[in-house]
Amino acid sequence: MKITGFDEQKCTKCGLCSKDCMADLIDFQKGNLPVFNDPLEICIQCGHCIAVCPTNAIQYDLLAPDSEREYFSGIDHYSDSENGILKTLLNRRSVRFYQTKSVDKKVLEQIIDTMGRAPTASNKQNRNFYILSNPELVKRLEKKVSSFFLFLLKLSDQPVIHFFKTIFFRKRQFSFGDQYSKIKQNHQKMINKIGNQSYQFLFNAPAAIIITAPPKIPSNYHFFLKPDAYTCAFQGILTAESLGLGTCWIGFAEIAMEKNRKIKKAIGIPVHEQILAVFTLGYPAVSYHRAPPRGPVKIKWLD
Ligand SMILES: Cc1cc2nc3c(=O)[nH]c(=O)nc-3n(C[C@H](O)[C@H](O)[C@H](O)COP(=O)(O)O)c2cc1C
Repeated sequence: MKITGFDEQKCTKCGLCSKDCMADLIDFQKGNLPVFNDPLEICIQCGHCIAVCPTNAIQYDLLAPDSEREYFSGIDHYSDSENGILKTLLNRRSVRFYQTKSVDKKVLEQIIDTMGRAPTASNKQNRNFYILSNPELVKRLEKKVSSFFLFLLKLSDQPVIHFFKTIFFRKRQFSFGDQYSKIKQNHQKMINKIGNQSYQFLFNAPAAIIITAPPKIPSNYHFFLKPDAYTCAFQGILTAESLGLGTCWIGFAEIAMEKNRKIKKAIGIPVHEQILAVFTLGYPAVSYHRAPPRGPVKIKWLD
C-alpha cells in the first residue's frame, strides 16, 4: 500500500492524518492540503492516516510495488459487525494519544485477570506482571527510555555510519550524495524530536503493563517465554480495548530496559528479570473510523 495523495473534495484540512503519522511523513500547515513526504521510503504502511481521517480523504494504491496482487483491504469489512470480538479485532489500533484521565485500579485488575487466563505452553504461568498505574512512574520510564535512545542516536551520528546506511538503503532514484544528506538529516531530526520531547516513547500514557520472566525458569521452558508473554499481552490489549481503553505495544521500552538494566531498577523491576513485553494503556484521545488495508497476505492452500 502506498499513500498517493489527499482528495481535495473530501479533505477538511483538520491535520489529524499528520498528527497520527508516527514516522512524521505528512506535512501539514493550517488551511492547506496535507502533503505526503517520504523521500527515504520509511512509511511502514500502518494506515493510521487512513483510519483516522474523518472524511476518508486519504488516497492510496493497494498494489504491492513488485506484484500484481491486490493487498487485502480490511476497510469497512466487518467493522460494524454485531460480533463483539470480530469488531474489537478489526477496529483495534495502536493508540498513541491518551486523555489525562487515569485508569482505575479495578479496571487494571480486570485486564490482568484475563491476561492470566491466556493460553500458555503446558499451562505454565512463568511470568510476572508489573503494573505502572501511576502516571509519574510512566513518565520516569519515558525519561529513561528516551535518554537511552538519545545516547545511541548521538553516538551513531557519525559520517561513517551515515555512509554505510546510504549504501544499504540506497534508492535508485537518488544520487549517493542526495541520499546521504537525507539520511543524515533524518538522523538529526530524530535526535531533535527525542531531545525536545516532541517524540514520546510511551506517549504520555497514564498507565503501562510490563511482563517479565521470573528468574530460574527451567531451561526447557525458555523457548516458550516470549510466545506465552505475547499471547498474554495481546489478550490484555483486547480486554483493554473492549473496556474502552486504547493500548500501544512498546517494543522500544523492552529494548531499552533489556540493554540498560538500570532502567528496570529505576522503576522497581528486579534487574535479573527479563522484560518480555510492554504496553501502554489509557483512554484514547483519538478515534478511528475504518480499518486500514493490510497485506499482502500470501496464502497457499495445502489440499
Ligand atoms: C512487538 C511489537 C512492538 C511494537 N513496538 C512499538 C513501539 O515501540 N512504538 C510504537 O509506537 N508502536 C509499536 N508497536 C505497534 C506497531 O507499530 C503497530 O502494531 C503497527 O504499526 C500496526 O498498527 P495497528 O496496531 O494500529 O494496527 C509494536 C507492535 C508490536 C507487535
